[in-house]
Amino acid sequence: MKVRKKIIIVDPVHPILIKNLRKKNYKVDYKPGIKYSNLFKIIKFYSIIILRSGIKLDKNIINKGKDLKIIARAGVGMDNIDLLQAKKNKIKCFNVPAQSASSVAELAFGLLHSASRKIVYCDRLLRKNLWKKSDIYGFEITKKNLGIIGLGKIGKKIALLGKKYGMNIYANVKRNSLKRKKLLKRKKIFLLTLNQLLKKSDFVIVSVPLLKDTFNLINKKKLNLMKKNSILINVSRGGIVNEQDLYNHLKIKRIFAAASDVFLHEKRKNKLFKLNNAVFTAHIGAMTFEAQKRIAIELEKRLIRY
Ligand code: MLT
Repeated sequence: MKVRKKIIIVDPVHPILIKNLRKKNYKVDYKPGIKYSNLFKIIKFYSIIILRSGIKLDKNIINKGKDLKIIARAGVGMDNIDLLQAKKNKIKCFNVPAQSASSVAELAFGLLHSASRKIVYCDRLLRKNLWKKSDIYGFEITKKNLGIIGLGKIGKKIALLGKKYGMNIYANVKRNSLKRKKLLKRKKIFLLTLNQLLKKSDFVIVSVPLLKDTFNLINKKKLNLMKKNSILINVSRGGIVNEQDLYNHLKIKRIFAAASDVFLHEKRKNKLFKLNNAVFTAHIGAMTFEAQKRIAIELEKRLIRY
């Protein structure tokens, strides 16, 4: 029987992916959470690497992978891969962007609920036997203004969920043509400039990829435009919201609350974690059984095609 290419998987994926690839005679090494330094030593043995957001494939490690033919991103963001270097080395790179959109949008609303009703804070108090109802005043979501920054696959799902709450949906997009504006208006999604959106929204959800022009997109100047009782949610990437500026704004209660699933430096202590008017999760947007299974199936299909 023909033994196919050697694959390394360096982030948690649905078991069905490993099972199916092994069935097809790929030699699969499953090493979720492997450290960069360890991967650096062994990447030369593999022709395919499957990853999510847990590790950075920079120029050095890509050059070390002498046999690398395919980099498969089991998810959306490609910001942790040096795509230019991969292209130079003739390595095929692809992502699987659509399959986790509903899960990420649902998490955005989970965070929105937690932040607006102080659910996590209340839970923390209760566990200390503190029944402080007067501290737990929050805000309703229904019929409020929802501003979505970025209207890709995830942004669109967020808009759909917002509509179910009867929210007024505003969006800021990069490609802002008159045609798109009209099309979205028919769907009751109104395009605004970023400044207009920040001024108008009660809830702002960030859903853009991390690029040169989105790094620090939401900084002190932009946070200053937000309403006093507004809430900011980031489910895209760390680095898009400036963490120091957000910390300063939350500290003086310049906005009501914030929530984030992503951080500039993941797996590290963060002074934002000291604040009670903020809720955090550990980059779990795509961590649902359904999303991971869909990603696994689609990724396998595309791998076989390549
Ligand atoms: C993604 O880009 O798909 C998400 O950030 C989730 C992940 O793969 O870790």
